[in-house]
Amino acid sequence: MRNLFALLTAALVSTVVASPTVPRQASNYVGYLVSTFSDANPRIQFHLSNGNNALSFKFLNKGQPVLASTVGTKAARDIFLTTNSARSEWYLLATDLDVTVPGFSWDKATRQGSRGIVVWKSSNLVDWSQSTLRTIEKDTAGMVWAPSAVWDEETSQYYLFWASRHYSASDTKHTGKATLDKIRYTTTKDFTTFSEPRDYLAPSDTPLIDQEFQYLGTPGSFARFYKNETTSQVYQEITSDGLFGTWTRVGLVTSTSGLEGPASYADNVTPGVYHLLLDDYTQYIPYETSDIKSAKWKKSSTSGFPKGLKHGSVTPLTQKEYDALTKAYPA
Ligand SMILES: *[C@@H]1O[C@H](CO)[C@@H](O)[C@H](O)[C@H]1NC(C)=O
Repeated sequence: MRNLFALLTAALVSTVVASPTVPRQASNYVGYLVSTFSDANPRIQFHLSNGNNALSFKFLNKGQPVLASTVGTKAARDIFLTTNSARSEWYLLATDLDVTVPGFSWDKATRQGSRGIVVWKSSNLVDWSQSTLRTIEKDTAGMVWAPSAVWDEETSQYYLFWASRHYSASDTKHTGKATLDKIRYTTTKDFTTFSEPRDYLAPSDTPLIDQEFQYLGTPGSFARFYKNETTSQVYQEITSDGLFGTWTRVGLVTSTSGLEGPASYADNVTPGVYHLLLDDYTQYIPYETSDIKSAKWKKSSTSGFPKGLKHGSVTPLTQKEYDALTKAYPA
């Protein structure tokens, strides 16, 4: 019975061909929003593009954060903004981690870290709920880092991904040896209740964090990016048959190491051009390609690109969304 159930579940999962948004003409979007934080001020910060320029941004709300976490560690890092295909609900997701507390250590942060994410909800990108802390991991997990989500139109739910390491069930204080960091996932319709968390990407030889997907415009086609923690480099893989399909390694985004927090977005103006931001631990460095399937990324011009942007996400905006943000949070 159990085995049959497992087989059925596997069969169901393997047919998922998530598509994050109803495919739109690039020209429906008039700008971009960067949702991010800073080390000095781990709260949600918005940067809006100057017109439809993918590499030129102004710091909204006169350079002040727009939202602060009042739950958990009261700090928000690794910001991810997601929406459904109708663009009728928006969720801001963040890692619940404060690296500025006295006595902070990465060892402690990965043993007794938060097993939840910080969530805010909005129907219009400008009126936001209070922050809530949603536990998504089992108590064997040492932490939950870098949430990212993909809306699946077929099943009307979000696939939510993050990185964590796990301790054996008997090691309740997490003092022993853990698994390598791996990518986990769950599903949710409302970021309130979640299915049981499972492994998504768990190689036996490599710790992985910071995974994000880029939808490539046709159902089932995605690129994914993640950080190999052995080398601190970001890899790219692609698929044409969905998040749980067969992935092909394309290669490194760049041979440079000491990069993390990939944030990818399609260009609104030129079809086939994609942008990728990589966080060098102090700020985002922008890359671009017109050939994403072979990962020929090159550094972009940075003259209009803001300094100090950290691990976040970039969202294309309709005119209505662009105007609402401009009005609610003037630069
Ligand atoms: C991570 O990098 C190491 C060192 O180059 C390599 O051996 C390993 O296969 C890589 N793992 C992945 C999943 O890319």
